[in-house]
Amino acid sequence: MPEVYVFDAYGTLFDVHAAAARHSEALGPKWQQLSDIWRTKQLEYTWIHAACGRHDTFRNVTVQGLDYAIASVGGIADGLRDDLMTAYHTLDAYPEVPEVLAALKSKGAKLAILSNGDPDMLDAAVSSAGIGTMLDDVLSVEAVGIFKPSMKVYAMATERFGVKPGDISFQSSNRWDIAGGNVFGFETTWINRSGRPQEYPNMPATRMLSDLRGLVA
Ligand code: LAC
Repeated sequence: MPEVYVFDAYGTLFDVHAAAARHSEALGPKWQQLSDIWRTKQLEYTWIHAACGRHDTFRNVTVQGLDYAIASVGGIADGLRDDLMTAYHTLDAYPEVPEVLAALKSKGAKLAILSNGDPDMLDAAVSSAGIGTMLDDVLSVEAVGIFKPSMKVYAMATERFGVKPGDISFQSSNRWDIAGGNVFGFETTWINRSGRPQEYPNMPATRMLSDLRGLVA
């Protein structure tokens, strides 16, 4: 069993579509399209910043992604933009998250989040999910000033725990994040919740699970 389990946050522990889902009635039938565009653009902005060696806060790229999504679907009702951003700070955790973290902890593993999120956004999400006591640390890219998949981000985890990359099991629902973790040398678990096709054949995942439960099965 690996000594250290490191988790991506958004999409892996926290449901990024929960914000729009919470306001789905007010948004109407376009809520899912808006949520998909929001997430896609938010991630694109992180990649472009990282590739160009520029940095911004995750909050800013999240707002920019939301504004692009709102424009793409032809606008939303007044006030909803702020409601969506507020909801993004208290996203629902996936249902199995607390029990899986508790089971890993009880086996003596060290647990941490490694995320693009700003420290205060991550603190709010962790505390609203009630998982703070199970985590040894919450590592934000803000400490290195560059988004994933910069190797500097993954190195935060090995430095924090004083272990080699291969001693860490890294879990992410983002296949591109798994690619980055593989290049860094982590053991990787792709959490493929929606049955997406395999990709990045030259940067493979060590294993694929449909949710986090398989980590303790
Ligand atoms: C994160 C994004 C990539 O939490 O989901 O780092």
